[in-house]
Amino acid sequence: MHTRVAIVGGGPAGLLLSHLLHREGIESVVLESRSREELESEIRAGVLEQGTADLLQETGLGERMGRDGAVHHGINLQFGGRRERIDLRELTGKSVTLYGQHEVVKDLVARRLEDGGHLLFGAEAGSLHDLDSERPRVRFSRGGEEGELSCDFVVGADSFRGISRLSIPQRARAEYERKYPFGWFGILVEAPPATEELIYALHERGFSLVSTRSPEIQRMYFQCDPNDAADNWPDDRIWSELHARLTTDDGWSVTEGRIIQKNVVGMRSFVVEPMQYGRLFLAGDAAHIVPPTGAKGMNLAVADVRVLSEALREFYGAGRTESLARYSETCLRRVWRAERFSWWMTSMLHRFDGADAFGHRLQLAELDYVTSSRSAAASLAENYVGLPVEVSPAAGTPV
Ligand code: PHB
Repeated sequence: MHTRVAIVGGGPAGLLLSHLLHREGIESVVLESRSREELESEIRAGVLEQGTADLLQETGLGERMGRDGAVHHGINLQFGGRRERIDLRELTGKSVTLYGQHEVVKDLVARRLEDGGHLLFGAEAGSLHDLDSERPRVRFSRGGEEGELSCDFVVGADSFRGISRLSIPQRARAEYERKYPFGWFGILVEAPPATEELIYALHERGFSLVSTRSPEIQRMYFQCDPNDAADNWPDDRIWSELHARLTTDDGWSVTEGRIIQKNVVGMRSFVVEPMQYGRLFLAGDAAHIVPPTGAKGMNLAVADVRVLSEALREFYGAGRTESLARYSETCLRRVWRAERFSWWMTSMLHRFDGADAFGHRLQLAELDYVTSSRSAAASLAENYVGLPVEVSPAAGTPV
C-alpha cells in the first residue's frame, strides 16, 4: 500500500490533517488503533478557541458545531468567596465555543468517510521505518494481519503514549516535562446549567471547574489525588466536595443531577523538541501535553496541523521544502506560549500540598490582580481565546 501522507492516529490532529490535505488534493491514509465507537466516545475537554472554531467553519465542518455548540463571551474566576468575570469579547474582540472534542471527532470521521477518505480503524501501528529516506514506511497490524504502508511523509498524531515520538532516535530529541502532584476528578451530570459561563475556582480545599456540554449535560471537575479512583467517590461525596468548594457568599452553588460518568484526568506539561525528524512530523499530544486548566490541548493540535497542511501544500504544489524544514520551529513558538499559559493558570488555581499560608495569599493576590487590572485581564483573555496562528516562521527568525 502506498500513500503520500501516512497519518498515525485518528484523533483530532490526524483526522483534521487528513481533511485539510484532502481539500488540497493531497492523499493520505489514517491508521487508528481504536474502533470507531471507542474513538467517538472518548470524553475529553471542550473549549474551542475562536481560531479553531473559525477553521472548522471555513473548511465545512461547522454545521453541528454551529447548532449544538455554545459561544461564550466570558469566563469567571472565583476565589475568596467571590466571583469575577473576565469579559473575553470586550477585551479581545473574540470568544470561545463550548463543543466537546469527541463531537469534533465525530464530525471529522463522518466528513472523511463522506469524502471517500482512507480511514483504517483497528489498525495498530507497530513501527516506523526509513524516516530519514524519501520513502518511509509504517508497519501495522489489523484484524490479526500485518500490513505495510509506504509513503512520502509520516505524521505522528498518535498521542502521548504512541510509538511515533519514540521512533525519533533518543540522541535526536530532547524532552521537557513537569508533573503536577494532583489530578482532576471529572463528572458528566444530567442537569441544567447552573451558570451561563465557565467558573474556574480556587478554594482552600482545592481547584474546581464548572463547565458545560449542552443545555442538558454539565461537565464539572475538582482537584483530586492523581492516583485517586472513581470508585472512591460515591455521588454524595462528590456533591458535598463541589458544594464546599463552589458555594459563594451569596448562597449560589452548583445544581445537582444524575452523574452519568466519572473519570480521573492526569495533569502534566510536556514538550519534545524538535517536533520532526527526517520525514516524520509530530502533531498534537504526540509532541506536547498541557494541563487542562488553560483549555489548550485540542487547540494546539489544530494549530500544528494547520501549519503542517500549509507546508505540505507548498511541497506538493511548488516543490518548496522551506516551510516543512521549519515546521517544528514554527509550531514550538506557539506551543511554548501555550505551555506557559497552561502552567500559569494551573499554578494560580490549585492547592499545592505543603504550600504555606503565604503561598495561598499570593494566589489570592494574583487572582485579585488579574480580575481588577485591565491589562492583566487582557493578557489572560488573549491567551484564553487563542494567540494568532503563524503558518510560517516569523520574519527575522534565524534559520
Ligand atoms: C471541559 O469542558 O471539559 C473543560 C473546560 C475548560 C477547561 C478544561 C476542560 O479548562
